[in-house]
Amino acid sequence: MSADAADNCCAGRRRLLEGLAGIAVCASLPLAVSADTSPAKLPPQAGDLLATPSWDDNPRVITPADVKLKAAPLMVFPQDAASGVTREKSRLNQILLVRLDPKTLDAATTALAADGIVAYAGTCTHTGCGVTEWNDKTLHFVCPCHLSEFDPATAATRVAGPAPRPLPALPLKLENGQLLVAGAFTARVGGAKPA
Ligand code: FES
Repeated sequence: MSADAADNCCAGRRRLLEGLAGIAVCASLPLAVSADTSPAKLPPQAGDLLATPSWDDNPRVITPADVKLKAAPLMVFPQDAASGVTREKSRLNQILLVRLDPKTLDAATTALAADGIVAYAGTCTHTGCGVTEWNDKTLHFVCPCHLSEFDPATAATRVAGPAPRPLPALPLKLENGQLLVAGAFTARVGGAKPA
């Protein structure tokens, strides 16, 4: 891609995630799932809340009203509902949360969504960078490392760039007006496995 093309590609993107200075945007090292089973490192569990991390300016549990239609995604982490521990000690637990018009979601995505809100792993499936940008015209997630784009309305299908597979989805549900995790990620989170 030429520099001009790259610049054009960047037009309309919005940086995500204020207050995430504590997260490295890109990790060139292979990602490995930790065997550590401490609550703060466990992957998302059914029944978890979703919350901003402790280093956010205003750490809080996310409610459905916090997720605005077509707005840039919120970067959140699962939080154990019983203990209040936010599972923020693993970068693989970063979650992109966005609300779309339910009528625009395909059937597979509708099955994972809660009132138009969808959640995906925030780690790129190419080489594991953080997916930190948002194209507010196409409503696609954008990985800044090699410009892979993912469509949240179609189960985060890759629509541009070298990423080999979609971003894993995280099923959601609403209970008593609260947004909850409904199950595990639909696929392994992280970049391509080392050969
Ligand atoms: S790491 Fe995301 S496109 Fe390469």
